Amino acid sequence: MAQKWIETVAEAQRLAKKRLPKSVYSALLAGSERGSTLDDNLAAFAELGLRPAVAGHAVSRDLSTHVMGQDISFPVFISPTGVQAVNPEGEVAVARAAAARGTAMGLSSFASRAVEDVAAVNPQTFFQVYWLGTKEEMVARMNRAKAAGAVGVIITLDWSFSYGRDWGSPSIPEKMDLKAMATFAPEGILRPKWLIEFAKAGKIPDLTAPNINPPGQPAPTFFQAYGLWQQTPPPSWDDIAWLRSQWDGPFMIKGVSRVDDAKRAVDAGVTAISVSNHGGNNLDGTPGVIRMLPAVAEAVGNDIEIVMDGGIRRGSDVAKALALGAKAVMIGRAYLWGLAANGQAGVENVLDILRMGLDSALLGLGHSSIKELSPDDLIIPEGFRRDI
Ligand SMILES: Cc1cc2nc3c(=O)[nH]c(=O)nc-3n(C[C@H](O)[C@H](O)[C@H](O)COP(=O)(O)O)c2cc1C
Repeated sequence: MAQKWIETVAEAQRLAKKRLPKSVYSALLAGSERGSTLDDNLAAFAELGLRPAVAGHAVSRDLSTHVMGQDISFPVFISPTGVQAVNPEGEVAVARAAAARGTAMGLSSFASRAVEDVAAVNPQTFFQVYWLGTKEEMVARMNRAKAAGAVGVIITLDWSFSYGRDWGSPSIPEKMDLKAMATFAPEGILRPKWLIEFAKAGKIPDLTAPNINPPGQPAPTFFQAYGLWQQTPPPSWDDIAWLRSQWDGPFMIKGVSRVDDAKRAVDAGVTAISVSNHGGNNLDGTPGVIRMLPAVAEAVGNDIEIVMDGGIRRGSDVAKALALGAKAVMIGRAYLWGLAANGQAGVENVLDILRMGLDSALLGLGHSSIKELSPDDLIIPEGFRRDI
């Protein structure tokens, strides 16, 4: 693998595109329908300006924070993502990279690697669940994660089973058997480095979900698990409060956009929410996340921890999110591009890009700690916010 330093997330994305088979790259790019939410997640950050200071700068800057019961070295951690046929080590490589950079790992229940393997390499692992299956099965899943060493639970509530994208969805096989391999061989041959990585590891891309069933039971395929999830009646707020009561540690709801939902999350007794629209992969037409953050932070920021995810591509994006009320942010595609470009080292590289960028933004804004960031650091154009 190339050992070269990757200087921006955009460069990591270009490398990922070159390296991955087209259908894998396109599955990571995701976004739904018109892609307007995906686009606005990024565009909204670009609309925000920064107010620089030129003298009296701090010699060193404190980026560390505490979120979901964990001390982390800087306010960026890994958002859970499923189906990582990106690299043979998958989530284990991501978790190692996060640990090496002193930060936490969110592991999807649709991940390709078992929670036991992931928590073993990163003690700051949060296990992400969906409302999927029976209540007994959900509790069993969380108990399994606890036994494996997970220190927090994230429930993601914003999935809407949306169908289709205007630019076309990649076809994902049910499982990687000989027939599927023959179908996808032409794409693999065009991307020999990706294929070689899997061949060297003696693996084929895994399309099963090993964290859905108790250990020892066969893992369902991704589509079997997805079908089960679709058939599960959606939860009420009482259900969410019940699930929260089944986990005696930090608990986050991911996917909150609206102020009234944020207040209900407080009532449900959660530790944190992530203001998020699933990276624009669901209900297309929801505003860019950073536009919705200020109203939510103003409403409940004193009651629970506010995290944000969606559209983070540089350190100054992190500074902007913190200035508007987030305690920390999570990243999705940014680390997936790093993983695709250069495995664990690529994820470390992306985390370093964000850390250095945040440090540089703090320097430019004249602060010595991320805790000093406030809306006064930003130039916020009229009509920027979406208070919903
Ligand atoms: C390929 C892909 C798979 C994802 N899978 C999950 C998942 O399994 N669970 C989840 O809570 N969020 C999932 N997400 C959403 C991310 O956790 C996160 O909310 C989103 O990627 C943030 O936006 P960003 O990619 O712009 O950083 C996924 C996102 C992508 C791009």
